[in-house]
Amino acid sequence: MENKVTAPVDDAIFKKVVSHAKEYGFVFPSSEIYDGLQAVYDYGQNGVELKNNLKQAWWKAMVQLNDNIVGVDAAIFMHPTTWKASGHVDGFNDPMIDNKDSKKRYRADVLVEERSAALAAAGQKDKGDALEKELARLLEANDLKGVYDLIVREKITCPISGTANWTEVRQFNLMFSTQVGSVADEANTIYLRPETAQGIFVNYLNVQKTGRMKVPFGIAQIGKAFRNEIVARQFTFRMREFEQMEMQFFIQPGSEMKWYDEWKEKRLRWHKAIGLPAEKLRYKPHEKLAHYANAAVDIEFQFPFGFKEIEGIHSRTDFDLGNHEKFSKKKLQYFDPELNKNYVPYVVETSVGADRTFLALLCNAYTEEVTGEGEDRKERVYLKLHPALAPVKAAILPITKKDGLPEKALKIFNDLKMDMNVVYEEKDSIGKRYSRQDVIGTPFCIAVDHQSLEDDTVTIRHRDTTLQERVKIEELRLKIRKEVSFRTILEKI
Ligand code: GAP
Repeated sequence: MENKVTAPVDDAIFKKVVSHAKEYGFVFPSSEIYDGLQAVYDYGQNGVELKNNLKQAWWKAMVQLNDNIVGVDAAIFMHPTTWKASGHVDGFNDPMIDNKDSKKRYRADVLVEERSAALAAAGQKDKGDALEKELARLLEANDLKGVYDLIVREKITCPISGTANWTEVRQFNLMFSTQVGSVADEANTIYLRPETAQGIFVNYLNVQKTGRMKVPFGIAQIGKAFRNEIVARQFTFRMREFEQMEMQFFIQPGSEMKWYDEWKEKRLRWHKAIGLPAEKLRYKPHEKLAHYANAAVDIEFQFPFGFKEIEGIHSRTDFDLGNHEKFSKKKLQYFDPELNKNYVPYVVETSVGADRTFLALLCNAYTEEVTGEGEDRKERVYLKLHPALAPVKAAILPITKKDGLPEKALKIFNDLKMDMNVVYEEKDSIGKRYSRQDVIGTPFCIAVDHQSLEDDTVTIRHRDTTLQERVKIEELRLKIRKEVSFRTILEKI
């Protein structure tokens, strides 16, 4: 019997999250009027706010909270030798396989992993685990024929054609290339960076010298990265253009395991602090180490389609700086006054995807709630986002369009907008307006009513409980500012 390559997926929920993201201005398919571009997405009016807040939460936690970490913003284009030195030209490959009938291309390792997940779902977890171990061993040995044999032995078929008519397994380099200048020859070929890390490595001495940094110190960066992913699925989980938030921590050789453990823990605390629940997060040590690492672990989040990587913590030794020294013929050594000697620092890296963490936040925040029964039954959908990350912090809503309420509400709006992203709305019933804010995750709705004219108070409606409290207008700004402050995240790290 042939095996279907399907993994357990909470499809219904995930579909709802994806359509919610589009319907409420979080994420759109790129160039949608031309039917989109596969694995490329645009962030809409609410998505960009959420993503910017997420990036700020990372930047503040890494750069602002640590006096030995500074930031850079390196160019996407880099000298092509960078990618020779980093090992990406020769080693940044995925094993791919084509189905001859459907002409569809797959990642050979993903086909086997999905088979393993399907086995686990069918109560044969041990068999699935053994399969993954075998795959890891074959990949480690670069035994592509062995991977092909495994796919055939497991009778894995193409989900489109249903056949097992496969080509051999080949390596496929994931870097996008383009030409600089007007002449399109080999010498002018450059790559779109597949990771932001190399922009940090090549600037390590510039920053160390100009910033008078002392080991241990870190350099952080947020920026775009590009990979010609073969399997482009699961919405913004695997994109061809995406954003990374990376930090390279430069340390004394031999101290890497201490720093590796420390960053591993710190980074998990950050994910919890931004609102991802502990039970949906876990570590997964790498079975197969990347070409640059001597220890590596993923932080995985439980998406509706299973536990998947959102961040990698890698001990990269002196692989990158050592190779850049070799290829550039420039000394990249650090004089350590403590040890009274020169060395190439070792590096522990933390590398988290902004888009994947965004997707984790969205999946986690999406909440369907039913209250009451019979006539009183009410359904509502809201996004339970951390207030510091929510796209809009507060909506200012006069309960009617007359009697001077809009003027009073606009005064509050004009004051609050100096501090945070707020909206003003007077159209439709107050209930409808609350719902519109719920679906984008606005933590506070401020209703201005007739009592407001008399005693300068308003009601604040809390998104998650829908409970309302009456507060003085003069206290409003401080109260909301406290709740939406990044301090509420940073204090937990
Ligand atoms: N500098 C190390 C590095 O790039 P990685 O594990 O290949 O390591 C780090 O990538 C993070 O970047 C991943 O954990 C993931 O969050 C994000 N990422 C990688 N490829 C991605 C893709 N195609 N789409 C979205 N995010 C991606």
